[in-house]
Amino acid sequence: MADSAVALEDVASVDIMTELLRRFKCSSKPDKRLILIGPPGSGKGTQSPMIKDDYCLCHLATGDMLRAAVAAKTPLGIKAKEAMDKGELVSDDLVVGIIDEAMKKTSCQKGFILDGFPRTVVQAQKLDEMLEKQGTKIDKVLNFAIDDSILEERITGRWIHPSSGRTYHTKFAPPKVPGLDDVTGEPLIQRRDDTPAVLKSRLEAFHRQTEPVIHYYGSKGILANLPAEKPPKEVTSEVQKVLSS
Ligand code: AP5
Repeated sequence: MADSAVALEDVASVDIMTELLRRFKCSSKPDKRLILIGPPGSGKGTQSPMIKDDYCLCHLATGDMLRAAVAAKTPLGIKAKEAMDKGELVSDDLVVGIIDEAMKKTSCQKGFILDGFPRTVVQAQKLDEMLEKQGTKIDKVLNFAIDDSILEERITGRWIHPSSGRTYHTKFAPPKVPGLDDVTGEPLIQRRDDTPAVLKSRLEAFHRQTEPVIHYYGSKGILANLPAEKPPKEVTSEVQKVLSS
């Protein structure tokens, strides 16, 4: 067992019971394999925790995984940092590798939410190949459709709790105490790439490299368009409608 792993006998009974209850409830849920696609700030990370809990899926966000690798200065993080700081995409091979590995986790048994992946047609094709080998496929692609002009205010006002991925916004979703996470009370941070200048390159990358991915899934008949400019709760209702249909 790794040093950081917690021995089962050291876990509080209430936590074990809660996890057992969760797994019991999850056993009756249908498997789902979802992709969330949309420009930076469109609300993919905001909606993911609700979908994850409702459908017992794992949430695989390539941006979060890459930022963790950058912070830990792993070889992957060192390779990814330069592109991320400039708002460009990191190489297809790097992200395909991390997704392939992450999908094997036990928490992905009922399916997954891919948030920020695939972002190029090559990544989408590689994903299809991976899933074909497993005898599965993507069920639905949720396209967070929104006008670019709304995104700067969303991105520059965003604050994040790094360890949980919880997202806040100074105007649209403020924390109870400014600068602190509602659940743990720990400090919130702003992302290095959440500046107007880097947002401009991220949007260019989205239009040039990721929009073709939307058409790729559109032609497969599994694309659902969401009005992502609506308030968060209304977007949640739209997501629930799409996923229950
Ligand atoms: P990544 O971390 O994936 O960033 P992104 O796609 O740019 O998306 P964001 O996390 O910025 O936006 P979001 O849609 O999750 O918005 P959120 O819900 O937080 O990628 C970062 C970088 O990593 C890339 O630039 C690239 O370099 C690299 N990378 C990652 N994946 C890669 C891949 N597959 N291939 C190559 N490179 C890759 O919302 C934003 C704010 O708005 C929040 O403050 C929130 O509270 C607020 N908000 C959310 N919804 C609403 C609403 N409905 N109304 C009002 N406010 C809202």
